[in-house]
Amino acid sequence: MFTPYYRLRRLRRNPQIRAMVRETLVTPNDFILPLFVCEGENVINTISSMPGHAQMSIDNLVKEAREVYNMGIPAVILFGIPAHKDALGSDVISSEGIICRALRAIKEAAPDLYLITDVCLCEYTDHGHCGPLAGQEVDNDATLELLQKQVVVQAQAGADMVAPSGMMDGMVGAIREALDDAGFSQIPIMSYAAKYASGFYGPFREAAESTPQFGDRSSYQMDPANGDEALREVQLDVEEGADIIMVKPAMPYLDIIRRVKDEFGLPTAAYQVSGEFAMLKAAAEKGWLDHDRVMLESLTSIKRAGADIILTYFAKEAAAILG
Ligand code: PBG
Repeated sequence: MFTPYYRLRRLRRNPQIRAMVRETLVTPNDFILPLFVCEGENVINTISSMPGHAQMSIDNLVKEAREVYNMGIPAVILFGIPAHKDALGSDVISSEGIICRALRAIKEAAPDLYLITDVCLCEYTDHGHCGPLAGQEVDNDATLELLQKQVVVQAQAGADMVAPSGMMDGMVGAIREALDDAGFSQIPIMSYAAKYASGFYGPFREAAESTPQFGDRSSYQMDPANGDEALREVQLDVEEGADIIMVKPAMPYLDIIRRVKDEFGLPTAAYQVSGEFAMLKAAAEKGWLDHDRVMLESLTSIKRAGADIILTYFAKEAAAILG
């Protein structure tokens, strides 16, 4: 009989030794929970493709924020659904818009919850693109001016960090300059640096009512086929002053997370997007997958790939298990 000399099974024999040699630990401190805020009072509009998630009016959002904080989740990222959309996305550059009012209300109710804003225009424009249009194209440099206004009003309203997601060239530099000029040099930027034009954003667009009215986002978001280009995107954002860099989506792009982490060694975030969440939920609902098991496995794999921070719709459910 052949007897192996090396026996890796020795360190897998029981839960104690497995815990001692485990390389990757996921904790609630790793999570950022996305939240959707809408107008009105006592509103909870459930999102059919994202079980457990809803558009909430500010009164309900505040209650949710307190609960999230008490569960040990340190941070949330806010997405707004305004009452009125227009060609420029004016609601989000106003200090009286839905996001600024939500920031002020949460800061008062849960002062230690870390508040991040998604800096983009697509939820606020009537055409659903990420900036004002010049003909059929998004006007890059005109968008930058609006993003500069957006981050300043959000910092004034209490945002702790801003996260530009529109994939406009120069967005990080423009935002850094605007924050610094307005006296907010202490506010960090988490850049959606390598954001792909992905089919996995489908449920989010239902949630945020932000589906483009014509065309798609391929002229500004990245081609899913490109990896080297992601490093170039990240490099430019780092040079422009990004403090945290993000890869999005997460699971179909674990290779990109690893390359970014290895190449730059910076705090790295990954966004487990709505479609990743929805497909695990749907399969679990059918009884085809064990919900809690695949949830934790997916989060562990994202962290193992190199992410320090995970934006995830599973934050509450995972925190309830991980404690
Ligand atoms: C853009 C933005 C999007 C998501 C986060 N920020 C949508 C898009 O690019 O269409 C998607 C997140 C998800 O799918 O969970 N503001």
